[in-house]
Amino acid sequence: MKEPHLVLGIGELLWDLLPEGPRLGGAPGNFTVMSGRLGNHSAILSRIGRDDLGRQAVGELDPLPADTSFLQVDPAHETGRVTVAFEGGQPHYEIHQPAAWDFLELTNEWVQLAERADAICFGSLAQRSRESRQTIQTLAAQTKAECIRVFDVNLRAPYYSGEIIQESLELASVMKMNDAEVPQVLALLGLPVLEQGDPDQLRGGAERLLDEFPSLQMVAVTRGGQGSLLVNRDEWHEHPGIPVKVADTIGAGDAFTAALTYYLLRGATLETLNDAGNRWGGWVASQSGAMPALPEAVRERIAAAIEG
Ligand SMILES: Nc1ncnc2c1ncn2[C@@H]1O[C@H](COP(=O)(O)OP(=O)(O)O)[C@@H](O)[C@H]1O
Ligand SMILES: [Mg+2]
Repeated sequence: MKEPHLVLGIGELLWDLLPEGPRLGGAPGNFTVMSGRLGNHSAILSRIGRDDLGRQAVGELDPLPADTSFLQVDPAHETGRVTVAFEGGQPHYEIHQPAAWDFLELTNEWVQLAERADAICFGSLAQRSRESRQTIQTLAAQTKAECIRVFDVNLRAPYYSGEIIQESLELASVMKMNDAEVPQVLALLGLPVLEQGDPDQLRGGAERLLDEFPSLQMVAVTRGGQGSLLVNRDEWHEHPGIPVKVADTIGAGDAFTAALTYYLLRGATLETLNDAGNRWGGWVASQSGAMPALPEAVRERIAAAIEG
């Protein structure tokens, strides 16, 4: 395979409106930036409004290794915003609707890009609208057979359903979820859920999904500071996590997914995939924000630790 690989983050690009100010995010955006930082040719497939926040999003992404040239501009709908309010220390999210990213349009340009992609990543939130759901699923279906199709579920209440998860898993070759999402996903699919605290809960759930969905090759379950579990059709591997001094964990899961994807494209073993996911997830958790700047010396040090 020629380098660099073409990797696409598909879905919502939005601003988190935090008490301290707006911060660019959305899992597909975070994934795209991290994928670019790791060395892929990485593009964001989303839609912004013809407004200040849209221009600011492009302004923020343009100096980063994230290709913004495929972003759509919606003449009628505003750039996505999420109001984050804290009540008693707990964050509450209001994901404004409709947003420009609810109107992802299936253009020939996007289809041709999807046909060339080596890996894509999509989630459930952007599928809340009929139009974006249709576009995302058609793009995933148009990728070449060997393309790595990652479904990073990222459940955001109330914008998910068993149907969205079912349809997405039928298209995916890799699924990523966190440990809290495992019982939710199984229940939404009408599959049996093992008891919380059952040592086999996560692995049993992952194996069940592999049984149910023939196109699925791997299930990744992350466990915050407790690391992660990778399960494929032949084996499984557990990682205890990399202890870090946490700044904030926003985007840690997206970094895990980006690193997993990067090393899957290089045919790495489960052990290396797990190490890479945790080292990069842990690094983002140790930094403030979901798209922290990555000094070249840090990139080299972490890559050397992973690649030995
Ligand atoms: N407190 C933490 N300490 C160290 N690593 C962390 C921490 N939180 C997250 N990570 C890293 O990020 C990965 C994904 O985090 P997790 O919270 O499970 O996912 P998500 O962000 O999707 O909910 C973890 O597997 C781990 O590698
Ligand atoms: Mg997540």
